[in-house]
Amino acid sequence: MKTTDHRVTGYLLFSLATAVIGSLQFGYNTGVINAPEMKLKSFFNVTWYKRYNKDIDPGVCTIVWSVAVSIFSVGGMVGSFSVGVIANQFGRRRSMILVNSLAVIGGLLMGFSTICSSYEMVIAGRLVIGLFCGLFTGLTPMYVGEVSPTPLRGAFGTLHQLGVVVGILIAQIFGLEALLGSDDLWPLLLALTVAPAVLQCILLPFCPESPRFLLINLNREEEARNVLVRLRGSEDVRKDLQEMKEESAKMAMEKKVTIAELFRTAAYRQPLLIAIMLQLSQQLSGINAVFYYSTGIFSSAGVQQPIYATIGAGVVNTIFTIVSLFLVEKAGRRTLHLLGLGGMAVSALLMTVSLLLDNIAGMSYVAILAVMLFVAMFELGPGPIPWFIVAELFSQGPRPAAMALAGCCNWTANFLVGMSFPTLQGWLGSWVFLIFTGLLIVFFIFTFIKVPETKGKTFDEIARGFSSGAPPPSSSTEDPPASASTAVTLPASPVKE
Ligand code: GLC
Repeated sequence: MKTTDHRVTGYLLFSLATAVIGSLQFGYNTGVINAPEMKLKSFFNVTWYKRYNKDIDPGVCTIVWSVAVSIFSVGGMVGSFSVGVIANQFGRRRSMILVNSLAVIGGLLMGFSTICSSYEMVIAGRLVIGLFCGLFTGLTPMYVGEVSPTPLRGAFGTLHQLGVVVGILIAQIFGLEALLGSDDLWPLLLALTVAPAVLQCILLPFCPESPRFLLINLNREEEARNVLVRLRGSEDVRKDLQEMKEESAKMAMEKKVTIAELFRTAAYRQPLLIAIMLQLSQQLSGINAVFYYSTGIFSSAGVQQPIYATIGAGVVNTIFTIVSLFLVEKAGRRTLHLLGLGGMAVSALLMTVSLLLDNIAGMSYVAILAVMLFVAMFELGPGPIPWFIVAELFSQGPRPAAMALAGCCNWTANFLVGMSFPTLQGWLGSWVFLIFTGLLIVFFIFTFIKVPETKGKTFDEIARGFSSGAPPPSSSTEDPPASASTAVTLPASPVKE
């Protein structure tokens, strides 16, 4: 940690940790609904009986259940799509504070659903919580990307995904019958999301507004400087300021970028295509087929205690996100994404084989191994990278609109996989994971041809890579050597040197 660029202050870490509470919330609410499935269904039945004096029809019960699960993604689509407007209107920090009110409303709706005998409150709560999570899948990566020093932007960008996976793991553990997954306590399990929301609201006022937002959007240079001095732990923040001013000057020449303009402007087309494809590669890899339905997958492979295998997948998920955090500034985004997609394709093949041959002794271990490998490979690249690379591919002007659009694509794909997987499994049986193998190969080829390396480059340099008319630097040989990870060593940074 020699140069100012590399110094990591306690204040920076505190701000990042506070922002990442939003990611934890997204993970928690993604994972929380699986374990109490039976409890929720029986609550629907009890409520139905109280109202109509008869049992709920099983078909109706399944519909209510699917709606309660998937309306979360619908909320996510809307929330992620609105992030640009909110983040620019209120600023990054104030947006996070305001958006937390949604977690409180959603959590309370679900928490009081049994007392009020209303399954509609569970559904409404899941919708509001989805809105909240959708907003945070944009707000956290945006804030983290904007306060981090360039050479560590990837490592810190991975913190969002780390928050997500830890959230999933906490939800899996708390969801155990012996803890909060019991008949009486499941409403508390769902309502628990209120606690981190309150905590984040208490901590956020001690965090700075994004200095990029202060300088570029609000033109408050002195405030931006003061924030940078505290974040970097050094009086000399000229380099950061200079870079932001250049971006700001460029922005003054551009106009404010709306989503429609993103499509119309030729310079944004390439990064937009990449951003959307990377988000799709994350969801259409099939990862949530595992996270939503792993218990069923393990049972059909003959695993005796599927719930523990599911928690095992959560642990592997967390470990490999940490591995990625340490690798991403060395190996680069592009390499890790390719490695992850390739590894997932192979794991999906292995999973298919183990499901097809489930009558052979020991195959259930192969199935467990295949799922763990699938999850591990996901977290090397396709898990964390799409979330933060969108913030890297665009400069301050188009960034919020791009994040909104990319986030919405991610949530839509998430919704589609979640909804269609059980049906596809019904049709294709053990062959179902081959669909993901095919998709993974397509995304691998796309990444190989189109995705540039962004490691160590400033936002402006990345944007220039696209707008110069020259093809983006898609070969990793153009990167600086792994040891030289500061922006100053980059060949393509004439202005800053
Ligand atoms: C990513 C995905 C999310 C998934 C999670 C699994 O954050 O966006 O949908 O559940 O990874 O770790």
